[in-house]
Amino acid sequence: MPMIINGREAAVPSDARVSLLDFVREHLELYGTKKGCNQGACGACTVLVDGERVLSCLALAVQYEGREVTTIEGIGSRGALHPLQQAFIDHDGFQCGYCTPGQICSALGMVEELRRGVPSYVTEDLTAADVGFGHDELRERMSGNLCRCGAYNGIVAAITDVYAGRGA
Ligand code: FES
Ligand code: FES
Repeated sequence: MPMIINGREAAVPSDARVSLLDFVREHLELYGTKKGCNQGACGACTVLVDGERVLSCLALAVQYEGREVTTIEGIGSRGALHPLQQAFIDHDGFQCGYCTPGQICSALGMVEELRRGVPSYVTEDLTAADVGFGHDELRERMSGNLCRCGAYNGIVAAITDVYAGRGA
């Protein structure tokens, strides 16, 4: 069964050792997803699988047969940016931009987690249906996405601008 990547079918690789990250970059030539540490520590390779964020360097492509994968190329388009992409520009949420595709995919996945009431390490009420979009929640949930340029203030401002006050 093929994988669906950004709305298009793609046959999964026959080599079961190929990571999802190498599959999208080297096989499909979708270079937006970045390889940073290649060991699950930086978040640069974050993509969405059926709306949930996944570190693609730690995932094998064959695991995702029949699943819907979204990379940064599937979010917004030239001339019609996703509101979060525009907010990253407006708030200087990047410098070199290497971490940015992962930051944006991660933030979109994070917003869905909040919508579903998934608790984090800092959530006080683990039974709350509405976790809320707070200062600590945002920073904790985005803490897996490193930015070596230190654009954190802009990243937080961009995400807050788009999602705070909208019930996430
Ligand atoms: S490249 Fe996957 S977490 Fe760093
Ligand atoms: S903008 Fe350079 S690493 Fe984040």
